[in-house]
Amino acid sequence: MTAAHEHESRTWREYRHATDSHLLIDGRIRPSHGRGISPADPTRFEMLAAHASYPRASRYDPRWVYLNHMGPNVLWIAEALTQVVDLEPGMRILDLGCGTALSSIFLAREFGAQVWATDLWVHPSENWPRICEAGVADRVFPMHAEAHALPFADGFFDAIVSFDAYHYFGTDVRYLAYVSRFARSGATIGVVDEMTVTRTERARTKSDRRTPFVRSLRRLSRAP
Ligand SMILES: C[S@@+](CC[C@H](N)C(=O)[O-])C[C@H]1O[C@@H](n2cnc3c(N)ncnc32)[C@H](O)[C@@H]1O
Repeated sequence: MTAAHEHESRTWREYRHATDSHLLIDGRIRPSHGRGISPADPTRFEMLAAHASYPRASRYDPRWVYLNHMGPNVLWIAEALTQVVDLEPGMRILDLGCGTALSSIFLAREFGAQVWATDLWVHPSENWPRICEAGVADRVFPMHAEAHALPFADGFFDAIVSFDAYHYFGTDVRYLAYVSRFARSGATIGVVDEMTVTRTERARTKSDRRTPFVRSLRRLSRAP
């Protein structure tokens, strides 16, 4: 296991310590820095969280992921994106709607990127201890920003990513043009978001072992 995993496990014990006495909800643990409630069956959850398609994400403490989750396993979807786009050390990445900044931490740790962890609902002061605990305080910069009023210079980012968040702010057809101005020419823009799999789509995927969502990403990565 990596140092990060040891670190995350220690954090989990701290959560336990902090919560055992006074932060129980429905008999389950609510963490101090985490946002979620512990899984009903932690052992089964840990087993399910290790996924062969996402070897990097599977190295992280699943309890840390669960306790800070805001939707689907964001390390899985972040890793899925990195399987179809190239990220390099030192790149400036905007993580738009980062929530609890798990994806920002992941991109900084795994690819040595500098990540601006930008969110509306989760305050930077909530994300900062998590970022420090994960050992990436020199590379992940938590910020509060509304996605339609971003405080960045035009052309600043080498990549803009968004995981399970774009549908909250990007549904206007003009939004992509707006956010693109913060990316340099030739930059990558990667969005992984919720989608409904229709019956037709499901039928098509029967003969195609790749998930619709990864196929969409491949299409995206081929776009000019
Ligand atoms: C379902 S959460 C996903 C968070 C994170 N990306 C993840 O996958 O764990 C959606 C996030 O979108 C952010 N969001 C929603 N509307 C936003 C807006 N107008 N500007 C910036 N962020 C926004 C929220 O603050 C929230 O953290």
